[in-house]
Amino acid sequence: MTLPLPPGFLWGAATSAFQTEGSLAVDGRGESVWDVFARRPGAIEGGADGSVACGSYRRWPEDLALLTELGLGAYRFSVAWSRVMPAGTGRVEPRGLDHYERVVDALLARGIVPVLTLNHWDMPQALMADGGWAGRGSVAAFAEYTRAVADRLADRVEWWITQNEPWVVALLGYQLGLHAPGVADLRASLAAGHHLLLAHAAGAQVLHGFPRTRVGAALNLLPCVPATDSPADAAAARGSDGYCNRWYLDPLLRGGYPADMRAHWERAVGDLDVVHDGDEAAIAGCTDFLGVNYYTRRVVAAAEPGPGRPFPWRVVGPAGDLTRTDDGTEVHPGAFGDLLVRLARDYPGTPLLVTENGGAFGETPTHDGRVHDTRRIDQIRSHVAAMAAAVAAGADVQGYLYWSLLDNLEWAMGYRPRYGLTYVDYPTGRRTIKDSGRYYAELVRTGDLPEPPAVAPFG
Ligand code: FCB
Repeated sequence: MTLPLPPGFLWGAATSAFQTEGSLAVDGRGESVWDVFARRPGAIEGGADGSVACGSYRRWPEDLALLTELGLGAYRFSVAWSRVMPAGTGRVEPRGLDHYERVVDALLARGIVPVLTLNHWDMPQALMADGGWAGRGSVAAFAEYTRAVADRLADRVEWWITQNEPWVVALLGYQLGLHAPGVADLRASLAAGHHLLLAHAAGAQVLHGFPRTRVGAALNLLPCVPATDSPADAAAARGSDGYCNRWYLDPLLRGGYPADMRAHWERAVGDLDVVHDGDEAAIAGCTDFLGVNYYTRRVVAAAEPGPGRPFPWRVVGPAGDLTRTDDGTEVHPGAFGDLLVRLARDYPGTPLLVTENGGAFGETPTHDGRVHDTRRIDQIRSHVAAMAAAVAAGADVQGYLYWSLLDNLEWAMGYRPRYGLTYVDYPTGRRTIKDSGRYYAELVRTGDLPEPPAVAPFG
């Protein structure tokens, strides 16, 4: 039986610029917030930085060859803003655009659909003079950058993702200071989240000036389940869902911020004066598809707000002996399927594109030179099965882009977590397709869920 997926379903893989490119000082690239953040002692595990990463700025033809070898039909990658506009606004660097044009043309020549992300977290450092995403000037800057990329590529690229995971940028970048730009200020994080959404709208307006473009934002959606069946925990789970999910879903797809979460924010920071009249109307109705990044769910319990806890809930798990990735994240395909069905129910009429799904499984080559990452095979198999069930239940899912094509720089965790279908030997940059990559290729080729391969000891 083949999977019940719509015709033209996009099977692919994803990466982002800062996590893979390296070559930070090449072809006129300006500094990004991640270049600067990486220099803070202790900011990135192992003192790592993005100077080499996977070397993909030079080795991108090898990456595209991997896509072809895997038989994938779509590639999600990101453009580095600071290669296109080194100072964030103003002067355009043609060498940066030339690079991405070559990548896009080569993808198209291989019959691979480009899915282009504009902001995968690497904002030009120069924009920090106005507060980065916490400043409203970021919105016009993003629109200017979008125009520069669109002028060059919108005749060939159909699928555009403006923002990657605005909640994660707001939380880790501006609330907790664990990601670039390293700001820890609750009000700034609220402002950053709002400006990321407004910038999405401004970018969408630019892109919709070109025929055939489809514009989405990729949200990191985390199903929130209550720790117990008490009404207090149910309210906590609902609140947490408002914070990470509905705060972004509702303005994009329903026309305004959800009232319950607005009240939580007002209690925490006072007036929401960062949201101007007309902003919610601007954000509404400009999203052609929703990018869904799914990794895990979270279990939430009621808790008093206090230092470091602005809202009346806390994440308590899941606890216990569960299937987990290397970093302890629960592997829960059922929550993925439920999420897709929920999105179809709560936000009807919006096509879904799975823009990321994956996990950290750190297997390395064994004596035979191969990477027998059976846990990733199970993760792919179970999540694709859950997605197919959601489609059968009515979710309009148009594609599935695995995170990631290759092991890469996992932000503040450095090079330790490995998310790739392809193993990267960092000292040499050599790429080796893992067993999971071969399994995914077989799945895509057959349109079915193959049995996981048997791994023979000493075989
Ligand atoms: C997501 C990010 C992506 C990668 C994966 C593991 O939150 O969008 O860049 O780091 O997690």
